[in-house]
Order: sequence, then C-alpha cells, then structure tokens
Amino acid sequence: MTKASDVFKLKNANNVEVTFIGRGGQITGITVPDKDGKLADVVIGYQSVEEALAGDGYFGALCGRFSNRIVKGQFSLEGIDYQLECNNGPNHLHGGSEGFNSRVWDVTPYEESRFTQAYKLSLVSPDGDQGYPGELKVEVVYGLTDENELVIEYAAETSKATIINLTSHAYFNLKGAGNGTIEDQVLELNASKFTPLSAEIGTVTGEITEVKGTAMDFVDAKTIGEACNADDDQVKIVDGIDHNFVIDGYDGMLRLAARLSDEESGRCMEVFTNQPGIQIYTGSHFDGTETGKLGKPIVKWGGVAMETQIFPDSPNKEHFPNAVLKPGEVYKHTCVYKFSIQ
Ligand code: BGC
Repeated sequence: MTKASDVFKLKNANNVEVTFIGRGGQITGITVPDKDGKLADVVIGYQSVEEALAGDGYFGALCGRFSNRIVKGQFSLEGIDYQLECNNGPNHLHGGSEGFNSRVWDVTPYEESRFTQAYKLSLVSPDGDQGYPGELKVEVVYGLTDENELVIEYAAETSKATIINLTSHAYFNLKGAGNGTIEDQVLELNASKFTPLSAEIGTVTGEITEVKGTAMDFVDAKTIGEACNADDDQVKIVDGIDHNFVIDGYDGMLRLAARLSDEESGRCMEVFTNQPGIQIYTGSHFDGTETGKLGKPIVKWGGVAMETQIFPDSPNKEHFPNAVLKPGEVYKHTCVYKFSIQ
C-alpha cells in the first residue's frame, strides 16, 4: 500500500528527473538541463516531503473529480440535481476540499517500451464521493521518455452517469524554482479564443471571446509579464492570468497547446494535449510568506500552471465541451510536457 509520504522517481538518459509523492500524485520536482547542461528544478514547491504534505495541496497534484470551478457547486444530470461543496467562495473548486489531490493514490511500476520509466497511479472514488454520482475508477500513468517528455495519461470509468475533468497542477518556472518570477518568460498559445471571467460569478461567464487585441493574445509569442502587467479588465479580476484558453483545431487528438520558453537558461517546454482547453494560472495568490525551493519565498507570479482540461463550469454550459461520462465509456486524457533547449 502506498503511503502519502512515499517518494517515486523517474529518470531518463539525459538526467531529466521527475519526482512525485503518494498523496495527490503530487509532482514535487522536475529537474531538466539548461543550454549549458546545468540542472535545475523547474516546478515550484517546497524543500521537503513533510512541508509538501503540510503545505499547498495543489502544487503538482492530480486534481479531480472536476478540476477548476463549477458555479455554485450545482449541476443536473439525467434529471437529478446535484449540490457539491462550495469550497471556493460561492463555487466548487478542484473536486472539493477532499479532492483527488488530497488522496493517497496506489502507485505501481508500469512498463511500456515508449517510456524510459513509468508509474501507474490508481484510485477508486466511491459513489457519492464529494457529492459526485457513480463509483469512479481512475488510472493515471506518469511516463518519462528519452525525448524529455513527461507523458500524463488519464483513464476513468464510472458505474453511473457522472461528470469528470481531471488535470495536473504543477507550476513551472523555467529559470528554476526560487529564481524570481516568470514575467520575462515567453508564452505562445495555440488559442485564438478564451473564456472570459466575471468577478461577480467568480469564474467564467459562458462567453467564448477572441483574444485578438486583448492581454490574452498569446497567438504570437510574448512575455507573461506583458500580459500580467497590462491595463486590462480580465487581468485585473485575477491579478494576472487565471484563464481557460480554447485550443484551436480541437478534435480530440493530441495537438500542441502551449510553448513556454526562457531566454536566459535556454529552457523550453511544449504542452501537448487531446483536451479542448488549457488553464493558464500565474500563481497570483502566492504572497511570499511561504518558503519554497532554494529556501526562497514562494512569490506572486513565481510559476505558471498549465492545466489541460475541459472548460470550467462545462456541466452548466451546453455550448462548452462535454464533461459527462456514462457507464461503458472511458474518459481518456493525455497531457505531454516536453522539455527542450531553444
Ligand atoms: C485555478 C486558480 C486557483 C488555483 C488553486 C487553479 O487551477 O485556476 O483560480 O486559485 O488553481 O491552486
């Protein structure tokens, strides 16, 4: 039986190392070389497992059953109204206060020729867990390749009609965690539309808006700081970026969603997914009071989360992608974080 504090490591031929723990499958480290071969840990977090277990439970964690927000925690399915916990102001966030990030996953070694090393993480979420219908059986594979790809593959099956939206919540800083903010790191998104927020609702309005002419326009690469410091209503609501972007050309197949790069270190990360959206969150709520890696404070905009997903509040928005899973169907989600040097 896996324990919360158990530590697992994946390593490839290029010294890329991914570390995670049993609780939440939390990715506590991803070490990658820079242009001179110098290694740094590019995910923000704490210095020890003990601190990780006591600290922010979303750092690098697997989130579910429904990542991101559901307005007022309410949805209806097959004629039944469901009320979930409102653990984020008036809304439900990341599956509730006992979401999948707080569970101890069963971790076993996994072998497949495309991976240098891999693990399978499994969880059975009982019918009614956090208010969600159906027993949900979830399997997630963390696989590392010699092409410096961390592949995250999710699969889930349910015993009753339910809703699902799993994601991974690592925050990246390609200079290395603890080395300041991500303001001068360059982001390019394969997204000409996004889902705007309303401060009153506390999440998406339901509109799908063109990014052109707004701070959310990353179709042509620009620095994250340019957007975070822009005089823009959407930026002001969340003091940075905390938005769902609509991936162009979505057809359920794996495609490039995002590209993050850091000129100084030469590190680059591409995100591929078969999901329709990606949440870009610049960590605006970090206030420097917690100590993170390198003994440095965890600061506002100190990392960027790139969470592949179905859109927020999809269960209540008919024109958003489907988040319903029925018995006999298999939820399949792939997210690939590919590291390279530019
Ligand atoms: C959300 C943020 C939230 C954070 C919590 C992100 O996925 O978009 O709004 O504050 O998770 O860690």
